[in-house]
Amino acid sequence: MTIKRIIFATGNAGKIKEIQAILEDMGLEVLSMKDAGISVDIEENGSTYEENAMIKSRAVAACLRECGQLEGTVVMADDSGLEIDYLNREPGVYSARYMGEDTSYRVKNANLISRLEGVEDERRTARFVCAIAAVLPDGRELTSRGTIEGRIGYEEKGRGGFGYDPIFYVPEFGRTTAELTEEEKNRVSHRGKALQQMKKLLQGIVE
Ligand code: IMP
Repeated sequence: MTIKRIIFATGNAGKIKEIQAILEDMGLEVLSMKDAGISVDIEENGSTYEENAMIKSRAVAACLRECGQLEGTVVMADDSGLEIDYLNREPGVYSARYMGEDTSYRVKNANLISRLEGVEDERRTARFVCAIAAVLPDGRELTSRGTIEGRIGYEEKGRGGFGYDPIFYVPEFGRTTAELTEEEKNRVSHRGKALQQMKKLLQGIVE
């Protein structure tokens, strides 16, 4: 199948940069919805990361189909979250909405740390999960998933990354994901791994 471009359903410029870096050698143009001049209001009401990612991809693909622009285009979207085992995998698919969408991550992170007060290292296990969904011009749908295992720290550390990064400690590095360089994080992150897997799936399809 001839594919010319990927439209990634996100408004996050950081994600687009990361995706462009990983998919660079496929020789495809990678655009955000904004780059492509699309604006769709999407309600993420799925109960899994895969469902939410697929809801976003399908909505954007439907919009492109309506205006006859889907040809040669793969629409992709991701959904991700933090699962803390001790809290029954909360905040999970509600990670962005945890304590309210507009609440600062300083407050969210402090809250999660306080909910783990007195919990020893071995029981502070957690993971970031990312699912990516793709809709192809012929209607075919693909999904991929990546995870990174770690532990919840005792205080915020590091200034890099975003969201829950300052409290997510990666034993392999002895640092939080907020203390990793961009390159280090992309190499081991949930999103990096899910993207690599999606790339492999696409390489089997794209000419
Ligand atoms: P979304 O997939 O962009 O909706 O992100 C879901 C939420 O999960 C984000 O708003 C963050 O709270 C959290 N999250 C996902 N990936 C990361 C990450 O790499 N670092 C820190 N927080 C993350």
